[in-house]
Amino acid sequence: MERKRLLTGDRPTGKLHLGHYVGSLRNRVQLQEEYDCFFVLADLHALTTHQEKHQIAQMAQNIRDIVLDYLAVGIDPERSTIFVQSAVPETCELNLILEMLVSVPRLERLPSLKDMARDAHLETMPFGLLGYPVLQAADILLPRAHLVPVGGDNEAHVEVAREIARRFNRLYGEVFPLPEILLGQVPTLVGTDGQGKMGKSRGNSIYLSDDEETVTRKVMAMVTDPQRVRADIPGRVEGNPVFIYHDIFNPDRDEVNELKERYRQGKVGDVEVKRRLARALNHTLEPLRERRARFEAQPGFIEDLLIEGTRRVRIIARDTMERVYTAMGLYGPQLLRSYALPLAGERMPTVLGC
Ligand code: TRP
Repeated sequence: MERKRLLTGDRPTGKLHLGHYVGSLRNRVQLQEEYDCFFVLADLHALTTHQEKHQIAQMAQNIRDIVLDYLAVGIDPERSTIFVQSAVPETCELNLILEMLVSVPRLERLPSLKDMARDAHLETMPFGLLGYPVLQAADILLPRAHLVPVGGDNEAHVEVAREIARRFNRLYGEVFPLPEILLGQVPTLVGTDGQGKMGKSRGNSIYLSDDEETVTRKVMAMVTDPQRVRADIPGRVEGNPVFIYHDIFNPDRDEVNELKERYRQGKVGDVEVKRRLARALNHTLEPLRERRARFEAQPGFIEDLLIEGTRRVRIIARDTMERVYTAMGLYGPQLLRSYALPLAGERMPTVLGC
């Protein structure tokens, strides 16, 4: 029996960090056992907030960095399909069709889009940014994915994709499975500064590609309980970023409980708590570093992998578009098909003698 398909992805706006790891990446590695996985490097999505030429130029490097992050966490390029969104024109084709199936107020209600516009210092909402969740729906529906593992910030977008799929199926016939949302077990990870979530552009991130020394330095500079000015006064564990990280990344529960106890009593300094966290984090990242080094040593590996991924996804994408146009009965594709002409991707042969 064919395995069910999974699709998720990342915008190539920077390297991936610990927040991505616990929110989504760790999950993906597991899910490879059960699903045919598709991972999209969503550079068209990145374009919704990063339109400038130098920002676009940066995306190529970001894509390579992220692919290495994927490989480092254990995504297996043999089993899983990794591809670049802008290399798959069917995404835009499907996007346009799906745009008809959702209302503007529905999209305007999404707080995530306003947040993205604000974070990118955009004064007004670009038309394309409003369409961000629709483009995401195109990514998901193109391989007819059954499962979409995402972090909490993307949950509402996948909801939109489900609504669009439902509407398409009702209007034209069953083409798309309803994509299920799978949320990561860890809610959004706080940044090292304790000021909201870890973010690529906030300077509060620990990257999966950070070396041991960098991780240690960032941990030693982390924000803890702001009320605690000396090591011998009781400290707060709840909401303290250092302990939030201990809870997530330190597998030695006894050590964590003991540290919390002593922290509450004012019997351990921040420095010791941080040293132990740095050790736990570096222990977590060590196998990633080894895998990364192995893949980095093979020149051309990433490009080959992306070409192969594009090839695989486009075969499915063409098939989906056929089904979409057939279900809709749209004239242009129907006309071309009756002459056995390709809709896209190949040069059209001459049929009339002129
Ligand atoms: N929106 C995701 C992000 O926040 C990236 C993304 C693009 C995505 N297409 C997707 C996630 C499809 C899940 C499914 O970066």
